[in-house]
Amino acid sequence: MLLVPATTADIGDIVELVNKAYRDENPKGGWTDERELLAGPRIGEERLADMIAHENCVVLLCRRYEDAKLIGCVAVKEMEHGMWHLSLLAVDPALQAAGLGRAILTAAEKYVLEREGRSIQITVIGLRKSLLEWYVRRGYAQTGVIEVFPYDDESVGTPLRQDLSLIVLRKSLDRPTSLRSRETYF
Ligand SMILES: CC(C)(COP(=O)(O)OP(=O)(O)OC[C@H]1O[C@@H](n2cnc3c(N)ncnc32)[C@H](O)[C@@H]1OP(=O)(O)O)[C@@H](O)C(=O)NCCC(=O)NCCS
Repeated sequence: MLLVPATTADIGDIVELVNKAYRDENPKGGWTDERELLAGPRIGEERLADMIAHENCVVLLCRRYEDAKLIGCVAVKEMEHGMWHLSLLAVDPALQAAGLGRAILTAAEKYVLEREGRSIQITVIGLRKSLLEWYVRRGYAQTGVIEVFPYDDESVGTPLRQDLSLIVLRKSLDRPTSLRSRETYF
């Protein structure tokens, strides 16, 4: 799985992919989309440009080999004490449930590990049960922390319910044996 860091030239493609994956208006949609919880776009060009410009954040892209179409993406941001925050994981709805999301997540974890990251934290809307279970199967565990949903932040879209909250999950990354032995040796 080859993930390439995004530049400002990719912004249009990313906005289109992310909004389609999170809030697809197509009745078939993806298996995890959140259109019953929030309306409006998940992200706009300005917010994405800020993420790409942030020195501690990178948006990683998966483009199809044959035609370079953007089919998946994920953002990781270095926080503190080796902890990174992961967001914007998205797969083209037409290609979901075929292992691509898992492969992108694994590649993002490898990216973080190679930069001395020790854990990854994510937040998931509590009502998205099948998505929460998907992350648990990938090794993410609930931390017990539940954040208040940012109802006053218009940039996340228009909430359609008043009972949204954000569950915080975390995964510790295993240091590969090769890195561990190098640390011990030196
Ligand atoms: C979450 C997401 C990235 C996963 O990508 P994906 O390519 O669909 O995922 P995968 O094919 O790797 O895994 C699919 C898994 O879901 C299961 N699944 C498929 N359809 C399902 C359904 N209708 N209900 C529940 N589980 C389902 C599959 O059996 C498979 O299970 P496994 O974990 O045991 O392998 C993708 O669905 C997406 O873009 N969602 C919208 C954006 C989003 O919500 N991102 C996460 C925000 S925190």
